Amino acid sequence: MTSHDRFEVSQHFDAALAERYERRIRMFCPSYDALHEMIGALFSRLPKDASILSAGAGTGAEVIRLGMRSPSWRFVAADISPDMLHVCRERVEGQRMSGRVEYFHGRLRDYCPPLPFDAATSIFVSHFILSREERMAHFQAIADSLKPGGLLVFGDLYGDRHSVNFAHLLASWLDGYAAHGVLEMELNKDREHIEHDIAFIPESELLDLLERSGFSRPIRFYQTFLFGAWVGYKL
Ligand SMILES: C[S@@+](CC[C@H](N)C(=O)[O-])C[C@H]1O[C@@H](n2cnc3c(N)ncnc32)[C@H](O)[C@@H]1O
Repeated sequence: MTSHDRFEVSQHFDAALAERYERRIRMFCPSYDALHEMIGALFSRLPKDASILSAGAGTGAEVIRLGMRSPSWRFVAADISPDMLHVCRERVEGQRMSGRVEYFHGRLRDYCPPLPFDAATSIFVSHFILSREERMAHFQAIADSLKPGGLLVFGDLYGDRHSVNFAHLLASWLDGYAAHGVLEMELNKDREHIEHDIAFIPESELLDLLERSGFSRPIRFYQTFLFGAWVGYKL
């Protein structure tokens, strides 16, 4: 059995990757900062006392960007990786935001918020959930934790692996990544990771899954190679 047969997301996002994540994600996704800026704009009409769930918070991109934008918003940073949450906590402390951020280590389906949230993010998370049932459980748990009408912004790698467009975008994406001087060995490892560990599904199937999880049909507002991001509302 190879390591790919046993891909475990919390082990993938270990201490070594958590330390490198901030640099690596910007090589992988060249418009990463633009996406997070757009999320700020999508959330700009939330109330002053809004509470926001960051599902798959990682090293804290959403929490920190949104927290800097609006000093009275409060957050829960939830993640399955203790190492990513550790870096998130350090960064939150560095921004003097500790008083407004709580943490949950684990899967969303095991999280019971004391009060429903005004909004949630799930950025570059659900494509790691290989089973459709578990992926739906992730989005259902987010829906269950939101107020009616609550806003969800989610981003994922997506697409139909068998289409010509997919092959074209994948090749250009990896060419752009390689241009950062990534070593051949690392490039091959990343190619294999994308091949085996990412649950690409066509947009229509992804949006059906969101609707079945309790959201309005989401609207795509962002696209970079195979990364997409959408906004929807809890029904
Ligand atoms: C690519 S990072 C994205 C982090 C952050 N949202 C961002 O935009 O940079 C994916 C994160 O999702 C977390 N994750 C993956 N599956 C998860 C799940 N089922 N529940 C909670 N977190 C999960 C990983 O541990 C990792 O920290």
